Amino acid sequence: MAIDVLLGLQWGDEGKGKIVDFLAPQYDIVCRFQGGPNAGHTIIIGGEKHVLHTIPSGIFRPDCDNVIGNGVVIDPITFQREIKGLTAAGLSTTDNLVISRKAHLILPTHRMLDAASEAMKGEKKIGSTLRGIGPTYMDKTGRNGLRVGDVMQSGFRQKYNELKEKHLGLLQIYPQIEFDLESEEKAWFDALESLRSFEHIDCEYYLNDAVKAGKKILAEGAQGTMLDIDFGTYPYVTSSNTTTAGVCTGLGVAPHHIGKVIGITKAYCTRVGSGPFPTEMEGPVADQLRKAGAEFGATTGRPRRCGWIDIPQLRYSAMINGLTHLVVTKIDVLNEFDEVAMAVSYASNGVEVDRLPYDLTQTELTPIYQSYPGWKASTDGVTKRSELPEALEAYISEMESMLDQKIYLLSTGPERSELVEF
Ligand code: GDP
Ligand code: IMO
Ligand code: MG
Repeated sequence: MAIDVLLGLQWGDEGKGKIVDFLAPQYDIVCRFQGGPNAGHTIIIGGEKHVLHTIPSGIFRPDCDNVIGNGVVIDPITFQREIKGLTAAGLSTTDNLVISRKAHLILPTHRMLDAASEAMKGEKKIGSTLRGIGPTYMDKTGRNGLRVGDVMQSGFRQKYNELKEKHLGLLQIYPQIEFDLESEEKAWFDALESLRSFEHIDCEYYLNDAVKAGKKILAEGAQGTMLDIDFGTYPYVTSSNTTTAGVCTGLGVAPHHIGKVIGITKAYCTRVGSGPFPTEMEGPVADQLRKAGAEFGATTGRPRRCGWIDIPQLRYSAMINGLTHLVVTKIDVLNEFDEVAMAVSYASNGVEVDRLPYDLTQTELTPIYQSYPGWKASTDGVTKRSELPEALEAYISEMESMLDQKIYLLSTGPERSELVEF
């Protein structure tokens, strides 16, 4: 059986959580393969809102097992908070959530380093979620990190202290930041107990055995393609491979096991944090998108930057990921617009281009837009493509033809059931 992949085609927050939750009944196992609590995946079930940061979005489906893979970085404090939230909502997680021993741990001092590094960058800051993601992946590739498996071994406290001391030394070169290390450290060690109480697995064996046994597996991406450490808008990116390639290293599965690649785009585009965003707008249209789409970060509450979709950017993401299935979310957000648009190419130094340049921070790109009439109609209760307003159908058909990709699912609202299957 193949491992299907679901990931974001833009700068994150495309609605991955909602779609994974919807698709999960078709799968035996849902796995996170990269990122950490920088992610905020929202799922709304019967009006009740849940935001997941580390735990896969298959957790609300009782027959689905959930795996936190080796490519993920885990903050025990956030993890414990998520478990408590799910327990309070009446969900049991003890039998359907397992964690890779090789996943790396985010220490309190990683969060300090994240904040101090951003403070030092000043105007050039990445706009990190300050969850310690960058410093933790730096320790992973620098071969200094602590992993989930280490917490079960003797000498863990000493390893922790050694790494903490190293971080405190490093912090000397940065501006001072406010951080109550003592109380954070206490909370961290308390939370480790929660992490210890779950089954720890060798994810690579677990999943390859599952593939052999014919189980259906879905890998849930975090962030989005344009935040990928290699292919995103570097240096304004996150610290992991958010793309299909990240599934192999983040779970320990071979490329030939990858099946469908389900990519998600909003019907428009958002970005949170700093960095280039060619179709970003300011003014009434952006304000209307932000308001209608409730575009405020699920992790940090920051207002998201808004603009129209960007076809060359989506083509780039489709290429990098090997897209096979396209999902469009938040189409309902455009319901009240007189006119909608998409960027179909760019003007750069007087020349029309349709490829992303090496460095978007150094290249002037002016999007060339094509406008379409709005449909000014509700999409509530629509379940079939044939029931869509005519102008909406025209808009999404245009998107399909420009991306040379048929739409597979169209999301018309945040609730689990608000979807049109094509
Ligand atoms: P993720 O990080 O990709 O899982 O996305 P987030 O949860 O950060 O952000 C997506 C937001 O849009 C959440 O508040 C969702 O509840 C909401 N959402 C998802 N799909 C739709 C949709 O089709 N329409 C509307 N209006 N909201 C949606
Ligand atoms: P989900 O999974 C949107 C952004 C941050 C910042 C940059 C680096 O919910 O789509 P980091 O904390 O990783 O060092 O931040 O990446 N970012 C996200 N933006 N959605 C996310 O996750 C994000 N995770 C990180 O805003 O610009
Ligand atoms: Mg999010």
